[in-house]
Amino acid sequence: MVDEAACRKSKMTQPLIIANWKMNPPDSKEAFDLASEIKKGIEGLEVEVVLCPPFVYIPQLLPAKTLLIGAQDCSWEQEGPFTGEISPQMLKNLGCTHVILGHSERRQLGETLEMVNKKAKAALAVGLLPVVCIGEEIEKEMNIVSRDIKNLILAYEPSWAISTSGGRAVSPEDMGNVAALMKRFIPSDTPILYGGSVDSNNVKSFLGPDLAQGVLVGAASLNAKEFIQLVKIAAMQ
Ligand code: 13P
Repeated sequence: MVDEAACRKSKMTQPLIIANWKMNPPDSKEAFDLASEIKKGIEGLEVEVVLCPPFVYIPQLLPAKTLLIGAQDCSWEQEGPFTGEISPQMLKNLGCTHVILGHSERRQLGETLEMVNKKAKAALAVGLLPVVCIGEEIEKEMNIVSRDIKNLILAYEPSWAISTSGGRAVSPEDMGNVAALMKRFIPSDTPILYGGSVDSNNVKSFLGPDLAQGVLVGAASLNAKEFIQLVKIAAMQ
């Protein structure tokens, strides 16, 4: 069953900025301080910001009302004998709104497109918004991950563009071409984000009606000053 209210897509009037903290920072005090500084720095801005910390920090960050909290992965099962897994229902019960799925760093660990499709359906079934990462083989990936699903948020994030793998951001022209290609598979109001080496210097170039409606940020989201600056620039779009 899909929770229609919770599954309504982000209003595309405001850019959506998702911070993927990956396996950082190393302790909970640092995580709390980082979230608190970001929260203070972005108050009042016309933008939707979702922090996706490691699972273990989620409960302590949820009271930060200005920020939405998401997870970096979830199971396709809601409960049961699945050692080490975290279910969409558990994340929803905590108060999470979004979940990143199919990140290239998880796909390198063996996650398949079919698994991503099942996870996205399980997330939607409890009213969590799946943010599905799409990389290099766009048509093939879109065909499988979006099969039988309407309410996705998509992130174009080729693995070669990720900063920690020595990457460089795609050009805005490429982003526009990819967005047009993705739209052949999905309803026209599906939000499309861009991820890969996004920072405060380049964020503006990816945002626009025919480009991306938001960004998925890795390394730059771990530096409060840089991330706040990035969000401020995005909010001026
Ligand atoms: P960077 O912003 O560090 O390139 O990371 C992108 C990413 O993997 C976000 O999911």
